[in-house]
Amino acid sequence: MRIAVISSEAVPYSKTGGLADVSGALPKALRRIGNDAFLITPLYLQTSGEHLWKLAIDDLLVEWRGRQYPAKVFYSEANGSPTFLIDAPEYLHRDSIYGYTEDHERFAFFNMAALALIRRLGKPVDIVHLNDWHCGFAAVKIAHLRFWDPFWRNTRTVFSIHNLAYQGAFGSGELWKLGFGSEFEQNHFAFEGHASALKGGLSASDMLSTVSRRYGFEIQSSENGYGLDWLLRARSDRLFGITNGVDYEVWNPETDPDIPANYSPADLSGKLECKKALLEQFSLPVDLDKPVFGVITRLTAQKGIELIQHSAAELINSGAYLIALGSGDKQYESFLQQLKNAAPGQVGVYIGYNEKLSHQIEAGADMFLMPSKFEPCGLNQMYSLRYGTVPIVRAVGGLDDTVVNFDRVNGTGNGFKFSRFDPSELAEKMYEALFAYADPEVWQAIQRNGMAEDNSWESAAGKYVELYRRTLQR
Ligand code: ADP
Ligand code: GLC
Repeated sequence: MRIAVISSEAVPYSKTGGLADVSGALPKALRRIGNDAFLITPLYLQTSGEHLWKLAIDDLLVEWRGRQYPAKVFYSEANGSPTFLIDAPEYLHRDSIYGYTEDHERFAFFNMAALALIRRLGKPVDIVHLNDWHCGFAAVKIAHLRFWDPFWRNTRTVFSIHNLAYQGAFGSGELWKLGFGSEFEQNHFAFEGHASALKGGLSASDMLSTVSRRYGFEIQSSENGYGLDWLLRARSDRLFGITNGVDYEVWNPETDPDIPANYSPADLSGKLECKKALLEQFSLPVDLDKPVFGVITRLTAQKGIELIQHSAAELINSGAYLIALGSGDKQYESFLQQLKNAAPGQVGVYIGYNEKLSHQIEAGADMFLMPSKFEPCGLNQMYSLRYGTVPIVRAVGGLDDTVVNFDRVNGTGNGFKFSRFDPSELAEKMYEALFAYADPEVWQAIQRNGMAEDNSWESAAGKYVELYRRTLQR
């Protein structure tokens, strides 16, 4: 099968969150199981030059606002699959990847450029795999082009929802300008009096997927549907949940070059060295008997930071350490700073984005906190499992699908899981974890259960191929 994966971010070229991990790894995994998959993603200011192997096309002409807009395309295989990076500085070179009022226009352009590129490559694709609202434009355009353009006639689209909360809304009056003048196209975008790129993708794509089974159900309820649950229910026969995989070439304590000592389930001693180095790095007193809670996250309401905030006193009183890496909403950043000021010998905080440090926290922490309000899939809990860092999570979305609550009697389970969005429930699970931690034999059993989980991309990629097949058969 020939598959074009299109994404607004992909490791190692750009990243703000898990979407990048997934988009970088999936095409590689699809190729490994025999498909002709390639990736199309933007070239940002943030894309490191070391990944730009060569200029592939210097005169890509994109139909854009009534003229042929010239863009360049670079080629790389730094993520393990052929990757085309669209270079259009006017739209894509900014201080940050997202966050501009004209984001809809920037990504509409990126989508049109991606389609121009596929055509320029000359060979029609079977599947265009689109991700999140930034790719909704391509879904609508392909659905329209298929009516009259033989190049696209047999191409089918799969749209993956990584996060329904981000919708790419803009004024419907803009649609003309962006090249969506037909009633057919405008109807796909129409949502509550404005245009929504996400709605366009959900409405026009041939098949829908989301990144865990449970999230697939959750978004069909009005509580979690962000006004689009009716559409997801109406199209539920085309909506499938496929849990993300983990790229164990990147996230593996046995080989990770970013951590001070490598380790495996058979010999966990390196993990203690990682813990020591982590505490030193944050200038915390080194008491290896005390557990370290780790947090790595975008600091947004989605991630349940307020539960950590309201159970922080319990954590501090227990004598444990907390080491947090994140950036985002100012209120959560200042909460973490304040906590550090209040308990300087127990709390380490790094506000910002730091890839290497994220590996070091995964390796050096004993427990990982992820009490999300909602979580389509979540990757850090799966990284934590592999690193022997026991996840404490709320039972939502992919967290519920991947973390099994530890059962002391049977010795089963790989973490700790609570249900209600309530700080006292999180505190209770933290105490339960601390109690288990106090018995090294019990603790190592939980760690080894987690490290033995196989969340590799091989199985997830196989499920996508199955979904693509079904899509082509419909
Ligand atoms: P989301 O995509 O909602 O942010 P995921 O758990 O799917 O959540 O993925 C988050 C990804 O981003 C992980 O790879 C995590 O390590 C990374 N990440 C989040 N915040 C930071 C940060 N401040 N520094 C480095 N990596 C981060
Ligand atoms: C989104 C979700 C996260 C998921 C990631 C990759 O950012 O918030 O839960 O793991 O996409 O699919």
